[in-house]
Amino acid sequence: MSKALKTIHKIAGSEPIAAAIVLGSGLSALGDELTDKVIIPFSSLKGFPAGGVSGHGRDLLIGTMGGKRVAILTGREHYYEHGNAAAMLPALETLADLGAKTLLLTNSAGSLDERFRPGDLMLISDHINYAGMNPLIGEPTDRRFVNMVDCYAPDLRAKAKGLAEKLDIRLNEGIYLWYSGPSFETVAEIQMAIRLGAHAVGMSTAPEVILARFLGLKVWACSSITNMGAGLSNENISHEHTKTMAVQGAEKLRKLIPALVEEL
Ligand code: HPA
Repeated sequence: MSKALKTIHKIAGSEPIAAAIVLGSGLSALGDELTDKVIIPFSSLKGFPAGGVSGHGRDLLIGTMGGKRVAILTGREHYYEHGNAAAMLPALETLADLGAKTLLLTNSAGSLDERFRPGDLMLISDHINYAGMNPLIGEPTDRRFVNMVDCYAPDLRAKAKGLAEKLDIRLNEGIYLWYSGPSFETVAEIQMAIRLGAHAVGMSTAPEVILARFLGLKVWACSSITNMGAGLSNENISHEHTKTMAVQGAEKLRKLIPALVEEL
């Protein structure tokens, strides 16, 4: 049993969780939806996100949502912080060891498509790993050859669309393209991403999806659109703007995700 798992059992008990949720930039409001909440700082959990990106939390929350016991990571570690694409492996392994069968990922992203405006949500149907870095490089076993077809679980996407309709939340699907960051894209890179068939760009999520599938977790992911991609509108793209605009998406996610957890 890993050190982090032992610490969690000691603080929050060993009752298994049904799902784990990772919150993107500016999306921490979802943590307020948890009841009977236990808060464990990442700093006391070996292998959990160590860095710090403003707009991200640094805690593991364990509590009840949608009638189920879940864990929420209020922040994540990104490839651009140090060049390690597998940085989230220890945390995701611990969540799987806690009993999670499903991983729900959220992020902030720039839109490449008029259907997705700032404040909208985009359900991720697939991704393009344009950063070209794979978190399974160095994994020595044949388990590294992960099948990525339908890695964003079709049944969960269908459920989310049905729930969004009931909740009056506009929810279309699109393809997420992972750029490493931390600089934002050039106008030419955004034009290329459009030609490649992507609908949104961001600096996270894709490596976590690869790791989650490696660990046998079912995956669902949703982007909160904070801006149009570089050159597609006159707004100024910045991390400050991302954090401010993420609030609108967060309000929608805090309705949609508990409803989805209830149906898991
Ligand atoms: N590009 C990359 N990542 C992002 C963006 C963007 O325009 N907006 C929010 N995260």
